[in-house]
Amino acid sequence: MAVFFNINRHAMKKCIFCLGLFVMTNIGLNASDGKTKVLAHSKYKDILEQAEKLYSKNDMTQAIDKMAKEIAVKLEDKNPIFVCVLNGAIIPMGQLMTRLDFPLQVDYIRATRYGGKLQGGELQILAEPEAAFANRVVVLVEDIVDTGKTLEGVIEYCYNKGAERVYTASLIDKQGVRPEGGLEVDFVGLKIPNKFIIGFGLDYEGYFRNLDGIYVMPIKELF
Ligand code: IMP
Ligand code: MG
Repeated sequence: MAVFFNINRHAMKKCIFCLGLFVMTNIGLNASDGKTKVLAHSKYKDILEQAEKLYSKNDMTQAIDKMAKEIAVKLEDKNPIFVCVLNGAIIPMGQLMTRLDFPLQVDYIRATRYGGKLQGGELQILAEPEAAFANRVVVLVEDIVDTGKTLEGVIEYCYNKGAERVYTASLIDKQGVRPEGGLEVDFVGLKIPNKFIIGFGLDYEGYFRNLDGIYVMPIKELF
């Protein structure tokens, strides 16, 4: 009886281990911090196979070229500070910077809103810029403007730090989300319909920022 019980216990442990392994390798899993989801390679590939490509690498090059030209016309004699809104803007920011050939400085800011995107809570600054903004022209570089609440908060932060003028540059402007009279972005790369997109800095659970185009995230894969 004791032997039978021991064998069963062993089998049960094995079952639980296999189940855990299955979950880990097929579905997203909360990592040790309890928040960060880890995406298995197979799931990553599934998502990419189903994701609809909205803009190619070539389209992105053209969009960044267009933004850079518009920015140069307006700001080449303003000695601005370009502020990368982390993490999403890392790719648009890097690509923009190499196309601008006038005096400028770069910095970053990392901000989030309490209560998440839908409730639009108060802005929390997770990483502050190092540069002094007093009497400077600041250009906030974003990956995407959706409701615009995050960017509105960051603009206010910059003015509170004494910026003379704050401009906004966003690779993507999501349409049909902001109400009439809502935030208008000064320099826009591409306009997209109200869909959840990934690539070129934009993530889903921290993944897909490295794609060289823009894709629509398949809804049934959202976890
Ligand atoms: P907002 O405050 O609603 O304008 O959006 C805040 C943030 O939500 C953006 O900076 C992005 O990080 C994220 N976000 C909004 N829409 C998308 C999307 O379609 N894909 C990935 N991230 C998004
Ligand atoms: Mg962003």
